[in-house]
This record gives sequence, structure tokens and C-alpha cells, in this order.
Amino acid sequence: MDNPFFMILFACTLVPSLKISVADDSMNVLNALSDGKTLVSKGGKFELGFFSPGGSHKRYLGIWYKNMPIQTVVWVANRANPINDSSGILTVNSTGNIVLIQNGSLVWYTNSLKQAKNPVVELLDSGNLVIRNEAETDPEEYLWQSFDHPSDTFLPGMKLGWDLRTGLERMLTAWKSPDDPSPGDVSRHVKLYSYPEIHIMKGTKTVFRFGPWNGLFYNGAPDLRNNTIFGFTFVSTKDEKYTIFSLTNSFAITRVVLNQSTTIYRYVWVEKDQNWGIYTSLPKDFCDTYGLCGAYGNCMPSETQVCQCLKGFSPKSPEAWVASGWSQGCVRNKPLSCKDKLTDGFVKLENLKVPDTKHTWLDENIGLKECKVKCLNCCSCVAYTNSDIRGGGSGCVMWFGDLIDMKQFETGGQYLYIRMPASELGHLYSHKNTARIVASTVAAICVVLLLSSYIICRIRRKNADKRKSEKENINLRTYDFSSISNATNRFSLNNKLGQGGFGPVYKGTLPDGQEIAVKRLSKTSKQGMDEFKTEVMLIAKLQHRNLVKLLGCSTQQDEKLLIYEFMPNRSLDYFIFNPTRCALLGWVKRFEIIDGIARGLLYLHQDSRLKIIHRDLKTSNVLLDNNMNPKISDFGMARIFELDKDELDTNKVVGTYGYIPPEYVVHGSFSVKSDIFSFGVIVLEIISGKKNRGFCDPHHSLNLLGHAWRLWIENRPMELVDDLVDNTVGPSEIIRYIHIGLLCVQQSPQDRPNISSILLMLNGEKLLPEPNQPGFYTGKDHSTIKDSSLRNIGVGSINEMSNSLLEAR
Ligand SMILES: *[C@@H]1O[C@H](CO)[C@@H](O)[C@H](O)[C@H]1NC(C)=O
Ligand SMILES: *[C@@H]1O[C@H](CO)[C@@H](O)[C@H](O)[C@H]1NC(C)=O
Ligand SMILES: *[C@@H]1O[C@H](CO)[C@@H](O)[C@H](O)[C@H]1NC(C)=O
Ligand SMILES: *[C@@H]1O[C@H](CO)[C@@H](O)[C@H](O)[C@H]1NC(C)=O
Ligand SMILES: *[C@@H]1O[C@H](CO)[C@@H](O)[C@H](O)[C@H]1NC(C)=O
Repeated sequence: MDNPFFMILFACTLVPSLKISVADDSMNVLNALSDGKTLVSKGGKFELGFFSPGGSHKRYLGIWYKNMPIQTVVWVANRANPINDSSGILTVNSTGNIVLIQNGSLVWYTNSLKQAKNPVVELLDSGNLVIRNEAETDPEEYLWQSFDHPSDTFLPGMKLGWDLRTGLERMLTAWKSPDDPSPGDVSRHVKLYSYPEIHIMKGTKTVFRFGPWNGLFYNGAPDLRNNTIFGFTFVSTKDEKYTIFSLTNSFAITRVVLNQSTTIYRYVWVEKDQNWGIYTSLPKDFCDTYGLCGAYGNCMPSETQVCQCLKGFSPKSPEAWVASGWSQGCVRNKPLSCKDKLTDGFVKLENLKVPDTKHTWLDENIGLKECKVKCLNCCSCVAYTNSDIRGGGSGCVMWFGDLIDMKQFETGGQYLYIRMPASELGHLYSHKNTARIVASTVAAICVVLLLSSYIICRIRRKNADKRKSEKENINLRTYDFSSISNATNRFSLNNKLGQGGFGPVYKGTLPDGQEIAVKRLSKTSKQGMDEFKTEVMLIAKLQHRNLVKLLGCSTQQDEKLLIYEFMPNRSLDYFIFNPTRCALLGWVKRFEIIDGIARGLLYLHQDSRLKIIHRDLKTSNVLLDNNMNPKISDFGMARIFELDKDELDTNKVVGTYGYIPPEYVVHGSFSVKSDIFSFGVIVLEIISGKKNRGFCDPHHSLNLLGHAWRLWIENRPMELVDDLVDNTVGPSEIIRYIHIGLLCVQQSPQDRPNISSILLMLNGEKLLPEPNQPGFYTGKDHSTIKDSSLRNIGVGSINEMSNSLLEAR
């Protein structure tokens, strides 16, 4: 990586840490580690160092069991970025981060943002590599830990799942092959459904479900109960959802590994053989294949006819069913009588792997009786049961929509009550009276339940965000003009970071060393100072992980300055459009960035107290923090510039050519759907590495959107893709993002999805409709559109518009 930006960085990091370059075996605190040396945990259980997997000659930094005749690697740092020789060096820098470098190039690094004070790096006997402050007394307070970033191995004490406060998901990803530890497309996730469960996925498709945690074990894997070697728990609080296991016998050595073949193995070390033995492997049988028998089909591993419809159901396509084409599933013989719902009842099935819990609703505080009443009063509730089977059962979980992926166990499964019309039940009417009383009060709950089953994780996340922002109470600072002027060297050209539609941005350093970004608003705003301050105050309250934080403002000397946190990694355009730097953003990161932008936008459009339309969303307004997390900047600018309060017919124009939608250019009308258009452009730019504006293709005169559309309809979407990016994800995943991008840039605003749908689409939880033709498909010469836009909009806006159009970055 011959990138000057990083070279400077190394010059600073290398010098102080090179003074001690030897880590000997008795030491578990690291300063620097070169290839050939290792770091051993205190009790001698694990070892950190460089290794070459399988038949490969490439070098990776990893952790393995010490003193084991077979090298068994449990964690790899630079999974996707191997070193080609033995010149790799690991160091710790003063910000408390571990940096792996080879001949001056950055290979891998940690990205803790926590305050470091004499950071030390330690390999624990659990196999966890941690960075902590030397004086920190709480043993769990780490600046960073490898257990938060698992590879393919699940070790005792490791939490797999979610920290909802930070949005961190810890998941397993398989090695691509035994000699390539780079992340394959097979992963294991805790799904944040109302009734959470664990899935093994290949790409975005589930291949196997462990089923939900029933208080004792995973419903779909009844063999995995506490035993003499290990014991499981699933922790589900409002802040965290994760699974963890610990050793029952402290001499045992066991690990769980996810294999690229989509199998998950639990190995136990067999002392007398000096080898690993397989304790269990999942999936277990044919019936574990996700959704094998389709809707309302029950999979029976021991029967000759493996798939059978539930009682009261018949194959949707009897011919296909006979030919073992089960995927179409089963349909009811008689419809439910929802309008006369009190005559429906339930059939109890036993020993079942319960259906996929994606569309469920959970209430841990009510029992089976109330659960039944609730389900009965909600037409779309099709099944219910206890969520926890301990002590005779407690809690209530209800299913909505088709029931899929059930399996019949001989023992160890769970009850499930399935809704049936009275005619299929014979004489079972006894619930009638209780039901009628509650019916009127509960009817409305139905809609709420259904909705909540879909958006539950969004709400959770939102609450987490809300709590966070309530904690950090908002203290907007008012800065002296002179102090800001000094901090930016009197707004010197050397400090200028860029020029946006609303004025230039400067980098500054306050006397206390804090780095800031200062936006000096151009003086076109007619707003008074007090109104300006009120607006800024409102905007400062918008706080979200994916928005740049506004620290304060300055309003002296007829100047309006906004002071933001400084983002060292600049903006998205700085990376994706540069042939060298673009290689630093792999697919996984790119997808995370797209996701982050969508979350920021969701907050602006729907979740914040003010409903904010950004109006100037573009890659140069997406800044990147130390972690390369995206943060939207310049939000609320439209408010500050006091554009029309309602969304229609703005008489001043902001926005940047290439990102603004046709309806805005032509009619000047702006809505949330205009931001969606800009978002779509950003998605396609991230995937292609090309700018929409100024895109040129030798074969035709289309812009990037037109080009993407043409490739799409000609069924060769992958030709859009930036080939400088790694190949860590499969084409189907990339095509999904292109698909979503195209949905966002559709000509007609009504066709574009809203941001909450987009998030569901990004998470693979929503079917994607076919996109229609994008806006600006004509491939018209840019100046034509520009001229007509100016003509159409008129009204004292030329300055603003050309400012934006000529934006300098
Ligand atoms: C330490 O390393 C991290 C990660 O590479 C980097 O972001 C940070 O700027 C470095 N700090 C110093 C003082 O070099
Ligand atoms: C190893 O990689 C570095 C950096 O990419 C390169 O400069 C060097 O020539 C490579 N060495 C070998 C032996 O391939
Ligand atoms: C290290 O990098 C420099 C320039 O980037 C190159 O000239 C040199 O050959 C590299 N050394 C090794 C051992 O790869
Ligand atoms: C997956 O498991 C099989 C069978 O145990 C093994 O041969 C193979 O090496 C494993 N694959 C990886 C990537 O570890
Ligand atoms: C199973 O083991 C875990 C960890 O040792 C423990 O926390 C949990 O309570 C055990 N569960 C049961 C039902 O014994």
C-alpha cells in the first residue's frame, strides 16, 4: 500500500514501539511481535503468533492451543489479508490499538475508540486477546478483545450474538478452505426476532435453524443439553442477546467450529488419542434442511414419506408432492373462519421443532391460557405455545404467516397449538365463553402484534439509540469566533478540507488538542442569529451513530460557524473513487457502510423528533470515522437555510447534480423519496466505484444509472461491479445491493421504497420487487439537464445551485 496517508501514520506508530521487539515465552504483555516469536497466555493454554495454514505459504497472525501436537487455530487476525513472507510485525500504538504491518504497509489493525491510558495487550488463558488500560481494575473492561470479532471458532466464555447498545454482532464465519482462513459465505447468526433463534446461513439464505432457546436448549437441537463437559445459556435482555457456553469440567478442552460445508462441529480433545473427537455435528439429518417440506409440512426423519402435511392440510400440488417436490408445501382443507373467529380452535402437536420464528410475537409474562385467547382473537395468529418449557412451561409466543421448517422429533421437541376452523375440530368449543369476554378489548391488539413482530428489532435498536442519547445530555457549546479563527489558522487555505453547498469546511485544532471540523456558512441565509441558534440547537439534538456530531456553533461578527467532530478518514468519495484507496474498502465494509447510511437516514426520516429531509446526500457528505463507520454530515442544513417547511415546491435549490432526482430538477418538489434517490445513487457508486456524475462509458452515452439499468435488463449486473474490490462475498449478495440501488433510483418517487423497507431489504428480510427504469435514463448530455433545471426553478437560487453543482471535492 503506497498510500501517503498511511505512510505518515506508520512513521508515528513505529518509532515509539520498536524499542522492545522481543516477546519471550514467559511474558504475556506485548510490545511488539515479529514473525517467529510468540506470545503465550499466563497459564500456557494458548499462543499468539504467525502461522501458515494447510499447504499455504502465506503468513497469518493467529491464536492456537499451546502444547498440542496438532496446530489448532482458533482465531485469525488478518483473515482476508495474508502476508506473503515472514516480515510481518505486530505493534501496539499509543491510542491502544494493535497494528499489523509488513514493510511499512498496514495489513490489519484494531479500531478501538475508547480512551487509552498505558494500554497493554494480553493473551488470556481463555484464548481471548485483549487490550486494556494498565490501571484498569475491572477485568472485563477491555479497549478491544478478539472475542468480539470471532473467526470460525466458538470457545468457552465467548458471547455469540448481539450487543444492542453498540450494534455489535458477534458471529462465526467459516474459513474458505483449510488453507485459506479468509471469511467464506457461511456464517452463524443470532437472529433478532421477537423469539430469537440461531441460523446457519450461506450468503443470505438460511440452511439450518437451531430453533429458538426454550430455557433449556435450542428447540431444534435437543441433544445439546447441559452435560458433563459443557453447559449452555442464552441471554436475552433489552441490551444483549447472545449465547454462551462454559465448561462443566475444567479439564475438558472443547471448541465449536463452523465449516464451509455449512456443518457446525463440536470437537472435544481426547487425551489418550492426542486428537480431536467430534462430539456432535449439525445439521443432523435430512429433515434439518431449512424449509424442506414447505409451508405446513412436517418433516419426519423416520418415515418413508419424509414430508407430511399437518392434519387438516393437503399438498398444494399433489403431483409434485408424490414426486418428492415438497417445497410448495401444504394448504388448509377448510379455511379459517375469521369473521366468526370464536369458532376457531387449536390442535395440539407434540415433540415438534417449532416453525421459523421470523414472524412471531413474544410475551414472557403471560401463560398458555392467555396466550390462547390472544391468538384466537387475532385472525392472523396461526399458532402459539409456551416460550419457555421449564417447570411445566411459561411465556407466550405466537406465530403469524405460514408455518415453515417444522420437524417431528421422537422425544425432546415442543408442543405447538395450531389454529384450525371448527369444522376440523369436531366438538371442541369449550373455549367460547372466556374468549367472547376478552374479544372486544383485545381485537385491536392484533394489528399491533403483527406489526411488532416485523419491526421489533428496529424498535429495540431505536430504544438503544434513544437511551444513549438521553444519557449524553446535550451541551451545545457556543464558541468564540476568535478561538475558532485561531484554531483554523484564520481559515487558511491549508486547513480547508472541502467546499460544500453551504460553504467551505476547515480543519481546526482547539488549544486543548481536540480536532474539529468547522463549517463556515455562506452568507446567503437570511435567517437571524437567534433563529439560527434555535435551529442549531434542534439539530444538535439529533444524535445517532451514523450522524456526524455537532459540537457547537459560533455566531459572532456576522459569521455563522458550525463546529463538528473531526473525521480523520475523510469522506466516502475519497476512498471509493480513488484507484489505490478503494482497495482498502472490501465488500463487507462497503455493505456495512451502506447499512450505516441507511440507518442514519432512517433516523433522520422517521426516528428523530424532527423529521429531516437531507436534500444533499452524496458520497462526499458521508464521512468516515476511525473504524470506517459512515456518518452522514450536513443534515439539517436545509432547515438552517430555512427552506419551505413543507416538502413541496422549494424555491431555493440545494442538492448536487448527479444525486438529485428528476422530480426535483423538473418540478422543484422534494420529499423523503428524493433522499432515497440520492441514497440509491450512493449505493450504485459504492458498488461500481464510479461517479454517477461524469460517468463515461465508451459504448454509449448513458450515465451510471442508465448503465446500471442497461446491464440489469440485459441480465449482466455483475459487470457494474468495481473489480478492484476483494472477492470475499458472492455475486448474489452484490446483485442484491445493485437491485436495492436500482429500486431507489426509479423514475417515479412513488415506486421508490421508503427507508424502513430498504433496511429490511438490506437485511434480506423482504422480497425485492422488480425495479422500473431509473430517473434520468435518457442519457442526456449533462448541460441540457442543468440548463433546464435552472430554467425551471428560477427564483434567486442560481448562486446556491451553482455552488452545489460545482462542489469541489
Ligand atoms: C493507532 O492505530 C490506529 C489504527 O490503525 C490508528 O487509527 C491511529 O491513528 C494510530 N494512532 C497513532 C497515534 O498512531
Ligand atoms: C510481498 O508483498 C509486498 C507488499 O505487497 C511486496 O512489496 C513484495 O515484493 C512481496 N514479496 C514477495 C516475495 O512476493
Ligand atoms: C519494501 O517496500 C519497498 C518500497 O515499498 C520495496 O522497495 C522493498 O523491496 C520492500 N521490501 C521487501 C522485503 O519486500
Ligand atoms: C470441513 O470439515 C471437513 C470434514 O471434517 C474437513 O475435511 C474440512 O477440512 C473442513 N473444512 C474446513 C474449511 O475446515
Ligand atoms: C447449563 O449450564 C450453564 C453454564 O454452565 C448454566 O448457566 C445453566 O444454568 C445450566 N442450565 C441448566 C438448566 O442446568
